[in-house]
Amino acid sequence: MQQSLFITLEGVEGAGKSTLMSYVAEILSNSGKDVLQTREPGGTKTGEQIRNILLNRNNITVTDDTELLLMFAARAQHISEIILPALSSGKVVLCDRFTDASYAYQGGGRGIETSRIETLEEWVQQGLKPNLTLLFDLDVETGLRRAGNRSEADRFELEEMSFFERIRTCYLQRAKNEAERFRIIDAAQTFDHVKQQIQDILKEYL
Ligand code: TMP
Repeated sequence: MQQSLFITLEGVEGAGKSTLMSYVAEILSNSGKDVLQTREPGGTKTGEQIRNILLNRNNITVTDDTELLLMFAARAQHISEIILPALSSGKVVLCDRFTDASYAYQGGGRGIETSRIETLEEWVQQGLKPNLTLLFDLDVETGLRRAGNRSEADRFELEEMSFFERIRTCYLQRAKNEAERFRIIDAAQTFDHVKQQIQDILKEYL
């Protein structure tokens, strides 16, 4: 059986990770891996319904704790319904955002204590961690401009610049603290150069 691998993609809004996920999947598939692409919040029927609640800009009364708990509720469903079965059948799971986003957005962005997030992580994941996390790093202003050109702002994208600055700082700090798991990709570079960075990183895993 093939060796399973859990890869996550992270970054601030507009860093291009969702577009580049298909490129990552292509490289892995071309080297014979069985790849499953998914995303958070979402990835299951229940999770996608939770995603709609979280991203709907009309839900202005959602509290920070509700937001965090909903992220982990969707994650619990995702892990048991999709991620664990795929990993146990030897697939490569490629996930557009995972728990690092909860630390960055709900921790860094909203200011929820790290210890609360750690408690939920332990409860829901029971030791499950990505093998590799690609952090698409980009200055906040450029990212928001790119995201703004794409579509109408969701509930998160309505936040102020300082919210996203805290998120970026938190991501970079986590990448520093867990350097063996994270690889930082400079998303300000041209598309071709970003692709080259991805190729170089994935070589180790093919
Ligand atoms: P997306 O725009 O990358 O699809 O992600 C949806 C939004 O959800 C994005 O603004 C980041 C946010 N998010 C969190 O705040 N916490 C989380 O744990 C996850 C997975 C996403």
